[in-house]
Amino acid sequence: MPGADDALLTDAFGPAASTSMLVPDGRIGRRLHGIDLAQPLTPDQASALLRLLDEHRVITFPHQNSSGFNVHDLERLANHFGAPITHPSNYANYGATDEPIRLKAPDDQRATKANRAFPGQIVCSPGAESAAVYVITNLVDSGPDAEVNLAGGQHWHTDIEFEPAPLNTSLFFVDRVPTPRERGNGTWVTNPPREEWFYHPDSAPELARLREALPLNGETAYTDTAAALAALPVSEQRALGDVMIRRRFRKSDPGFVVPLVHTNPRSGTKSLHSPVWASRGKRVAPAQVEGMSDDESRAFLDRLEAHCLRPEFRYDHVHAPGDVTIWDNYATLHTAPPSLSVINDIADARLLYRVSTKGEPATTLPRTDSQEWIDSNIVPPYQTPMT
Ligand SMILES: [Fe+2]
Repeated sequence: MPGADDALLTDAFGPAASTSMLVPDGRIGRRLHGIDLAQPLTPDQASALLRLLDEHRVITFPHQNSSGFNVHDLERLANHFGAPITHPSNYANYGATDEPIRLKAPDDQRATKANRAFPGQIVCSPGAESAAVYVITNLVDSGPDAEVNLAGGQHWHTDIEFEPAPLNTSLFFVDRVPTPRERGNGTWVTNPPREEWFYHPDSAPELARLREALPLNGETAYTDTAAALAALPVSEQRALGDVMIRRRFRKSDPGFVVPLVHTNPRSGTKSLHSPVWASRGKRVAPAQVEGMSDDESRAFLDRLEAHCLRPEFRYDHVHAPGDVTIWDNYATLHTAPPSLSVINDIADARLLYRVSTKGEPATTLPRTDSQEWIDSNIVPPYQTPMT
């Protein structure tokens, strides 16, 4: 209800705060205006934002770059939604078992490499070098003399559903978006054909079509798995509530078993958590429905994925520089769009910073996660330095 959302926001942030819809019928997402996220949040403000995220799955704040907001602020903000995880791309030897894990040398960091593409013209935001920040960009290995490369979109997925404590929330801060639209058919890029086995060859043609209905201007595509679940017959919703899924990173791992249906502990909203058989193709072991074979699991989850990808649950989020966008990983699927992954024209630059979190929200900071919980769930262990 827009009126209730606006009242919640103005109570917490003052009369300048307001909401607007991201799609005309308001089925997913809200844009929150008149909020300066460079300022630390009060407990009431944090609580209001958590409630709006629970309610709408995606919330976005325009024009944050106008008040000096930077990636340090993004990481502080993320701490309200959960404990920030460290990102594997920031480590020189992630996954090594025979030596202590170490961060990449400054020269090898993604932010440093991005800064080299168009020297002095694009410089990453302060805080981009944090172990908790994933720099999403096509600037690495790019520059005026680089050979352009076109990359396809990712599989539909939720971020890191294959760990016992999955990611609950992800946050983007948008620095640059591509501006050209004249390539392809009036879009930034075309959707390149998939290599063999990107998706299982037995996937139904309709599912293949829905998977490939991707935005072509660098937008992030979402689908609302709470709305998709709610649209099923009540008897099927009930039956899905009993389904357990074994998830694991490698096929040889024992993995762990979790419910397919997630219940938001604050709002009570039920959603399908990562209803996708192979969320990362061959890089991560497929999900297995308890009591089903691999083929049965695939058929079962393919049917749910096709349901979730129907247009009435889909939303392509158009990014603008200065946006902070936050989404609920338990109640959405998303995918990275097809894009130019190496560029030689600065107008094609795409630069976003992502922080993702696990665990419980916190209305006051610093967080109070126990060292034991951090050691078990954040690999390598990490806490945002709070000064
Ligand atoms: Fe992702």
